[in-house]
Amino acid sequence: MTTQFAGFSKLNRLQRINYIVKNSSLTADKEGSFDDYCAPGKEQQASFNDMIENYIGNFPIPMGIVPHILINGESFMVPFVTEESSVVAAASKAAKYWSTKGGFRAVVESMTKKGQVHFTWKEHPDRIRKLFPGIIQKLFLATRELTEKMRQRGGGITEIQLLDKTSELPDYYQIDVSFETAEAMGANFINSCLETIAAVLQQLPELNSGDNRVAIIMSILSNYTPDCIVRCYVECPVKNLTEWHKELTGYAFATKFKQAVDIANLDISRAVTHNKGILNGVDALLLATGNDWRATAASVHAYASKDGRYRGLTTIQLTEETFRYELELPLAVGTVGGITQIHPVVQKTMAIMNYPDARKLMMIAAASGLANNFSAIASLITTGIQEGHMKMHLFNILNQLHVSHTERERVISQFNGTTVSYAAVEDFITQIRGER
Ligand code: MEV
Repeated sequence: MTTQFAGFSKLNRLQRINYIVKNSSLTADKEGSFDDYCAPGKEQQASFNDMIENYIGNFPIPMGIVPHILINGESFMVPFVTEESSVVAAASKAAKYWSTKGGFRAVVESMTKKGQVHFTWKEHPDRIRKLFPGIIQKLFLATRELTEKMRQRGGGITEIQLLDKTSELPDYYQIDVSFETAEAMGANFINSCLETIAAVLQQLPELNSGDNRVAIIMSILSNYTPDCIVRCYVECPVKNLTEWHKELTGYAFATKFKQAVDIANLDISRAVTHNKGILNGVDALLLATGNDWRATAASVHAYASKDGRYRGLTTIQLTEETFRYELELPLAVGTVGGITQIHPVVQKTMAIMNYPDARKLMMIAAASGLANNFSAIASLITTGIQEGHMKMHLFNILNQLHVSHTERERVISQFNGTTVSYAAVEDFITQIRGER
């Protein structure tokens, strides 16, 4: 039974583990110490020790490579970090397929991020509206020092607006601030600017006299990034869409594909799964590059419902001649800041992609998402998803069942081309073990 313990964060890593062993079912053997998952070098390990509070060990997740994603004529080897067995295989298959058809085309529309200072103010809205043009200048001035380095890199605060929300909540306003954050995702920069703005608002004599004062509720960036948009598409003549499934003509494949995309646009049950398939690729890359995938996932799902109904994030244009399939994503990513310079593996994953800038990383993420989604839909409308999924999952099953090398070879050959299930593999192993 765990008891309330105040000084946990003051303990060192081993003391924390000992404490857990004493107060939980974790055993004190070597496994329990998590040492097997520590980084081999002292310096690399140190970066993990300090990354989070109450650190006890590393939690490995496999990293694989999608070997060739062709984007705007440039080939990328793309690192994916994911625990889902079929994700790398699915993206690789679609990326290879499209590389023979011109590859992915991608464009970053904009990279603006926003944040808000939320506050209440009790006087008539007309007064603050009138005062605001003068206040804006003071806010820009107050944040000049903070934004100087970012301005040197081509970023900074681009717009400050007052949003009157008093009709939705009494006395409630927002200072809505737009940012360009260059190579950074910019969360810390944005939040620092917003907190400075909040402090200034509370001191402005024109807004603070007698009982009428600005009351700050909170200052925080928004993870909703509808002005930080990347678009990515694939396109080819319909007649060339034949190799994925030999039994369907290009037109039959494209027509069925369109039906699947239409369903994701009209039905939330399907749309969420459709979008999850996109995030399979996007998140695997964002994790590999030390980006905040929770922030982007939240943004992506909100964007999927921007017109009042949750939809799939891809669109299709199908004519008799041409198949064009497009993905539009709101993705705020960074190649500097956060853990990008601290995490020892992120240094390597960025090198694998030849150090893309944030703009390029957005495009690689979108192409990765589209590749995973294309693969999923193409399988769903032809063979079904389980054939490929379970083929990859077979290795997990074999590891779970602790098979020998010879048994492994026999299982792989037995299930080659047939549908895999845990029960069928287990039965087969029992059978071959009984032969001895
Ligand atoms: C599985 O991780 C992802 C899929 O369910 C996506 C989809 O259904 O489009 C296969």
